[in-house]
Amino acid sequence: MQKKILIAIDGPAASGKSTTAKLLAKKLNYSYLDTGAMYRAITLKFLEQKIDLENLKKWKKILETTEVFLDYSNGNLEVWLDKVNVTSKIRTPEINNSISEVASMAFVREKMVALQQEIGKNGGWVIDGRDIGTVVFPKAEVKIFMVASVEVRAKRRQKDYENSGLSIPFEQVVSEIKKRDEIDSNREVSPLKQAKDAIVFDTSDLSIEEQVEFLYKKILEKI
Ligand code: DC
Repeated sequence: MQKKILIAIDGPAASGKSTTAKLLAKKLNYSYLDTGAMYRAITLKFLEQKIDLENLKKWKKILETTEVFLDYSNGNLEVWLDKVNVTSKIRTPEINNSISEVASMAFVREKMVALQQEIGKNGGWVIDGRDIGTVVFPKAEVKIFMVASVEVRAKRRQKDYENSGLSIPFEQVVSEIKKRDEIDSNREVSPLKQAKDAIVFDTSDLSIEEQVEFLYKKILEKI
C-alpha cells in the first residue's frame, strides 16, 4: 500500500489553493482540509457578537467555548459554527474585510493550529492555508506555494462572488485582495511566507485541470 503523506498548500488569497487542493485530494483518495474556512468561521462569530475587536480578554473567553467543525461527508465542504451551518455566511465581503485582523490574533492561531495538527497527524491529507508548510506541518512531505497575479486572483474572486449571487466591482475586489495580501504577509504571528523547501507554483496561466495534473505528478514522485 502507498504511504499516505501530508501535502501542504500555501499561498495568497484567491491563488487557486482550495479548488486545486480539493480536486487533488479526491484524485489521491486523501482528505482535504480548508484551514481558511476555520478562520472564516471564527471571524463570523466575532462579528456577530459585535464586541470591539480590541477587547482581547473578552475574545479569549468566547473562543474557549467556540466549536468549529468541518464536514466533507457529502463531498462538499460544510462549515458548522457552534452546531449551526454557516457554510454560505463565511464567504462574504464583510468576512473578507475583517478576517485578516482576526487571523493575526495569536490566541486564535494557537487554537486553530492545534486543531489542524490533530486532524492531519496521520497523513493522507491535503491541507491549504497560509502557514501550513511553515508552522502547522513544517515536516510535510510535499509543500506547494501557489501564486498568481493580483488581476487573475481578483477575477477568480469576483467569479466566486457572482456564483453566490453577489455583484462586486472589479476594482473593489482588487483592493480587497491587495489589502489582505499586505496584512497576511506582514502580521507578526505566522505570516504568509514561502517555506524554504516549497515548490513555487504560478497558476496565472493555467486551468484548474492543468494545476491538478501538475501537482498530481509531483506527488506521485514522492509516494
Ligand atoms: O484561504 P482563505 O482565503 O479562505 O483564507 C481566509 C483568511 O484566513 C486569509 O486572509 C488569512 C487567513 N488564514 C490564515 O491566516 N491562515 C491559514 N492557515 C488560513 C487562512
